[in-house]
Amino acid sequence: MTAQLIDGTAIAEQIRAGVAADVKARKEAGKSIPGLATVLIGENPASQVYVRSKQKACAEVGIQSFGQTLPATVSQAEAEALIKELNDNPAVNGILVQLPLPKGLDEERILNTIRLDKDVDGFHPVNIGRLAQKGRDPLFVPCTPSGVMYMLEKSLPSLEGVNAVVLGRSNIVGMPVALLLVRANATVTICHSRTHNLPDVVRSADVLVAAVGKAEMVRGSWVKPGAVVIDVGINRVEDATRPRGYRLVGDVAFDEVKEVAGAITPVPGGVGPMTIAMLLKNTLAAAEMSDK
Ligand code: GUN
Repeated sequence: MTAQLIDGTAIAEQIRAGVAADVKARKEAGKSIPGLATVLIGENPASQVYVRSKQKACAEVGIQSFGQTLPATVSQAEAEALIKELNDNPAVNGILVQLPLPKGLDEERILNTIRLDKDVDGFHPVNIGRLAQKGRDPLFVPCTPSGVMYMLEKSLPSLEGVNAVVLGRSNIVGMPVALLLVRANATVTICHSRTHNLPDVVRSADVLVAAVGKAEMVRGSWVKPGAVVIDVGINRVEDATRPRGYRLVGDVAFDEVKEVAGAITPVPGGVGPMTIAMLLKNTLAAAEMSDK
């Protein structure tokens, strides 16, 4: 292994400890306990796991969580009514609607209903719009993308002028990561399923962020020696030697790429823990905003 391992678990732990200390100080100063409402619609098993981990992480740092679940058959009006109720609840500083939503619900309208100063996931159209515009600042930045940036800033002296390649253009990760990299003055290329000569484009990257959801797609031969590689993918591959019958791998063929890259995130233990740490940070920031 030549690459330095970027340990997301350890970095996230530092962030969580900082949030826990700030929450404790708030309580001691007689200020409100930060509160996060999680809204889970339907029974997507992966979403159930994510929401449970978010609630557990809140409890560990002293943030109150309010778990709301709705059936997949809920109407658009009922879902929006729940968000409005949470908007009006002063104990709730942040509202997180777990995505993807079941078919039939209008995601944009639901996200648009969240009060801007409670949008701790940063997916409200106004926050995303501000992220995309020069001279404007969103109130909150989406959690996985801000976790990716935090890791990059720790791994490189500067992102200014570096060639950054983002694999994937999703609303949740690829697009906001690309916008954040532009804001950090990187030169950004966004790749997707129609990109020509993908391995060649990836080989131009000083910084590579892989967020396509394809197991071990990025091979060692695609990576520029010394590049910083952030792997956002979490993919299940069958593995009869594991008790659960599968193991988790990223979008990057870790064993090959670690011999070429300068630094790399593992899966699991890379970006995953950072997402939750950033959510806790955003929820604390929302509570601080509500003090004023
Ligand atoms: N689904 C996958 N990632 C996320 C996330 O960061 N936030 C929400 N709300 N849903 C997701």
